Amino acid sequence: MELNFILNGQPLTLTNVDAETTLLQLLRERLGLTGAKRGCDNGVCGACSVLLDGRLVKACRTSLAQVAGHAVTTIEGLRGPDGDLSDLQAAFLEYGAVQCGFCTPGMVIAAEALLRRNPHPTRAEIRRGIAGNICRCTGYQQIVDAIEAAAAQRLAQEERENE
Ligand code: FES
Ligand code: FES
Repeated sequence: MELNFILNGQPLTLTNVDAETTLLQLLRERLGLTGAKRGCDNGVCGACSVLLDGRLVKACRTSLAQVAGHAVTTIEGLRGPDGDLSDLQAAFLEYGAVQCGFCTPGMVIAAEALLRRNPHPTRAEIRRGIAGNICRCTGYQQIVDAIEAAAAQRLAQEERENE
């Protein structure tokens, strides 16, 4: 099949795509974007999380029919304004929210989805926002701290821009 979609802001046309391929397989095996991780491959761990039209989805459970004509954002597409780490990625580093790092791309994507729909989440809302993402290392505390800090930074930035 031919597949047309937008990947990290760029329109893309792919030919000879196996319609049975999942979005995760397409990203990792054909497009070389290995930020989304294959953990459970069964919709449970969240390591493969990406945004589909800004909505959090698990790429291992996303068919190419769902992707056709839509916009996919992977961790590779989340960059700061200067092309450097995004604010969330920087906060994860600063707050020790990364240990082995396997869950981190999916966790950052889940956090990005949360902050886009709820820019000022409570800690309980942050925990709910990342409830579909499993971390085996950190105990989640530092992850919640990092997301809370990034949300506060975005709020401060917004206030500066509105002054
Ligand atoms: Fe997709 Fe675990 S690899 S949810
Ligand atoms: Fe290792 Fe989360 S940092 S699984």
